Amino acid sequence: MQRLDIKTFKSIVFFTGAGMSAESGIPTYRGQGGIWHEYKIEEVACQEAFERDPLRVLQFHELRRQKVLECRPHAGHRVISDIEKELDNVVVVTQNIDGMHQFAGCKNVIELHGSLWRLRCPVHGVWEDKGEKYTSYHCPHCDRWARPDITWFGDLLDNQVIVQAEEMMVRADLLITIGTSAVVWPAAGLVQVALQNRVLSIEINPKATSVSHLYEQSIRGQAGQVLPELLSWK
Ligand code: OAD
Repeated sequence: MQRLDIKTFKSIVFFTGAGMSAESGIPTYRGQGGIWHEYKIEEVACQEAFERDPLRVLQFHELRRQKVLECRPHAGHRVISDIEKELDNVVVVTQNIDGMHQFAGCKNVIELHGSLWRLRCPVHGVWEDKGEKYTSYHCPHCDRWARPDITWFGDLLDNQVIVQAEEMMVRADLLITIGTSAVVWPAAGLVQVALQNRVLSIEINPKATSVSHLYEQSIRGQAGQVLPELLSWK
């Protein structure tokens, strides 16, 4: 594989999905062993489910936290984090809620779908909660159920987050998309914004996706192997 010297780019976006965390041991959503094959979205990942049975929804997310805490960032996460430390024009826009980029040391991460490591109350706002178990299933200020700060199916994305991500996509002259099936909107639409501009665009995925043909280069391979082989920045 020919190395890509990324120092020459002005604005670099890594756009990541569940495949980015697959080699860390975190299951994807739609592939073999995917989360949505084992669980029903309408029972664990939407506002209606939370209103019907908050405890079940919280326990589902708590289990996911425990699984994530058993996993570690892989070589691909580390490369992105090393690049971010070295260059000041790098942002990660992720659909992942697992925090794996941050565990690898990344600071500049836009989380489109929220985070497993935050909870929120409709009255008292958002707070961090990072343990294996939730500190409490309830808001510390009132008796309401705490809701995972995650964009579930049917939820609107946080407007500020989407504006920030769009800005990055418009500005990007290098887009590297890793490990997403690109079927969930509006996240998938963000990529189209960058692809319409004159960016160098690269997709890394072991399988072709419905948008692979839109990229200048679509590399069939695993994130943890391809990223360290592909990118040079020193
Ligand atoms: P998907 O599960 O839909 O897709 C994962 C993609 O990663 C697939 O295209 C795989 O081929 C690819 N993949 C698997 N292993 C890989 C590896 N080692 N290296 C690189 N790629 C690999 O996950 P997402 O596209 O992230 O939303 O799903 C998008 C959203 O749907 C998620 O954020 C989540 C989900 O429902 C919410 O929870 C709101």
